[in-house]
Amino acid sequence: MADCCIYTFLLAAVGLLAIFLFLLENLWSLLQAVRAILAPYFIPNEETALAKKFGPWALVTGSTDGIGRAYSFELAKRGINIVLVSRNEERLKNTAKEIESRFSVKTKIIAADFSLGRKAVEVVKEEIGKLEIDILVNNVGKMYEYPTFVTEVPEQVIEDIININVGAATLMCRSFLEGMKQRRRGAIVNVSSGSEHQPMPFIAIYAATKAYIKSFSAALRYEYQPYGITVQHLMPMYVDTKMNAYSEKMAKDKIFVVSPEQYAKYAVATLGKMDESSGHWAHGIQTFLLKLAPTWIRIYIAGNINLAFRKEYLSRIKPGSKSCEEAAKIQ
Ligand SMILES: NC(=O)c1ccc[n+]([C@@H]2O[C@H](COP(=O)([O-])OP(=O)(O)OC[C@H]3O[C@@H](n4cnc5c(N)ncnc54)[C@H](OP(=O)(O)O)[C@@H]3O)[C@@H](O)[C@H]2O)c1
Repeated sequence: MADCCIYTFLLAAVGLLAIFLFLLENLWSLLQAVRAILAPYFIPNEETALAKKFGPWALVTGSTDGIGRAYSFELAKRGINIVLVSRNEERLKNTAKEIESRFSVKTKIIAADFSLGRKAVEVVKEEIGKLEIDILVNNVGKMYEYPTFVTEVPEQVIEDIININVGAATLMCRSFLEGMKQRRRGAIVNVSSGSEHQPMPFIAIYAATKAYIKSFSAALRYEYQPYGITVQHLMPMYVDTKMNAYSEKMAKDKIFVVSPEQYAKYAVATLGKMDESSGHWAHGIQTFLLKLAPTWIRIYIAGNINLAFRKEYLSRIKPGSKSCEEAAKIQ
């Protein structure tokens, strides 16, 4: 009888500990997000603290549109000079001009196509020369045109996704970490995605590249934290950018699908305060709720959501197409 009581007690203790650790992991990130959001209102120097903490220059990849563009503006607002990297020179010039007209910071532009892998990173390094990069934001990313089966994704698109999402982030970190290590300060922000939390049917390759970013960032943090380097990884849920142009319905959700500007405002506020963040309070709530479900349920839900997006896209682009009928059947 006494033995039975001890086993029951031990089982209850293990259960309570598991619940406590689960809530700590999920609520801690939510509490830190609230702190990061409120801090600028109560600590006046908070807005400019980034330049002091990490240094005066940031480099943002994929910075002429969406999250990267908005993130660059938020950094510039805090007095940080920006190196903008994207493919289109005209758009780079316009973005740089707009930043310099609104904030008293310097900008530099570099046209590079990260689908070219190492060649693009060489271009960036050559253009940067001796300029010290203190905050590296690996934001550039590519998704398929719309959710689809792996066998329907063209080989070239698969190669581009891997080069851009995995190759660029990895090689850019390697290129700029050594300088940060010597200066014993700096920050790396790797933009992952909420799709890293579980495999995602119909955007399988994209989600797998983001799981890589999660793993890579955590290991990098362990290696370089002793040298005073912050490695943050962001896990946005849906943000209203051209990456999600395949769905008109998605953009109608104004609570959870935030604008890039709203997203960047909160995401930048978490830099230096949170190692991992969904980047926005609304996405923090979504992530918390999502993680309550076991992985297999999440895969099932993700598969169905992506199938609905696929169907919506195909019925808009090619009404009555075979793929559209297939999508309807699977649903
Ligand atoms: N939007 C979302 O819902 C969402 C959710 C989770 C995670 N994310 C992640 O957030 C990041 C930004 O996404 P986003 O939605 O803001 O993207 P976006 O709106 O499509 O913007 C992409 C930016 O990257 C540049 N770019 C595209 N291909 C490039 C290449 N090969 N080489 C260099 N630059 C390139 C584009 O400019 P040019 O075309 O002029 O080169 C543009 O400035 C990505 O890593 C994405 O995976 C997005």
